[in-house]
Amino acid sequence: MKTAAQISAATAWCRMAPSPIVFVPTMGALHAGHASLIRQARRTAGPKGSVVLSIFVNPTQFGPKEDLSRYPRPFAADRKLCREEGVDLLFHPSPEAMYARDHSVSIHEKSLSSGLCGGSRPGHFDGVCTVVAMLFQIVAPDIAIFGEKDWQQLAVIRRMVRDLRMPVTIKGCRTVREKDGLALSSRNRFLSRENRSMAPRIYQTLKARSMEVAGGEVSVARLRRNLIMDLAAIPGASLDYAEIMHESTLSPLKKLDAKNPARALVAVRFGDVRLIDNMALPTPR
Ligand code: PAF
Repeated sequence: MKTAAQISAATAWCRMAPSPIVFVPTMGALHAGHASLIRQARRTAGPKGSVVLSIFVNPTQFGPKEDLSRYPRPFAADRKLCREEGVDLLFHPSPEAMYARDHSVSIHEKSLSSGLCGGSRPGHFDGVCTVVAMLFQIVAPDIAIFGEKDWQQLAVIRRMVRDLRMPVTIKGCRTVREKDGLALSSRNRFLSRENRSMAPRIYQTLKARSMEVAGGEVSVARLRRNLIMDLAAIPGASLDYAEIMHESTLSPLKKLDAKNPARALVAVRFGDVRLIDNMALPTPR
């Protein structure tokens, strides 16, 4: 595995690398969810293609009161995992390498970014779009893989790629969960024992809505009310948002039907740890 901290070294490597180049952008602190992204990348690239993974804790997607400084950076363990999972190039630039001191250009997606996480994290998706576009410039991947746990991020990136005609195919990778259902996240490690034991109820709450739909419920208002009630009842949790939306336009729905694939999306805070999760709702019969 080649590692590169400089943009010029990464670009030179990528321009010579056998295609397809399959790219997994991350902020490091890699866990089994990332391992599954890398395995999907490896399968997609095939034995001859190239898998590139970036680790960059992107300052521009953190708000002033967010956890940029305490975001975990276990580089040696991350590098080991990348090597074991068959990454070909690990690109890990510094903030100074990525951003000119007076950088002044950014990408703003103005529709899908406005609600959900965008509502509670103003500017977050500008930072995500800008850094992902920069990484695409450097790596020039054929395919890029993102986790479905960050469903809104995936939708926003798909929209950016579509609207800016970026020559890359975006693929989603299913959320990996702990045995008890908690979606894997680099932030889970900050949960207290008590909160960790309550956090799987987020998944149970989503699952319960999916069962309600399977049982014939089509009213989004009722499903959403139950979602909010169940999340609010989790000890130690405070609700950030709970919505049921069209899965790709992220627009609100009134009623579930076969024409509008729907997804429940939630964010919950346990103290200063903010967890997000989402689940596709079945198509009503
Ligand atoms: O999902 C993440 O880890 C980040 O938002 C990403 C896509 C690597 C951009 O910094």
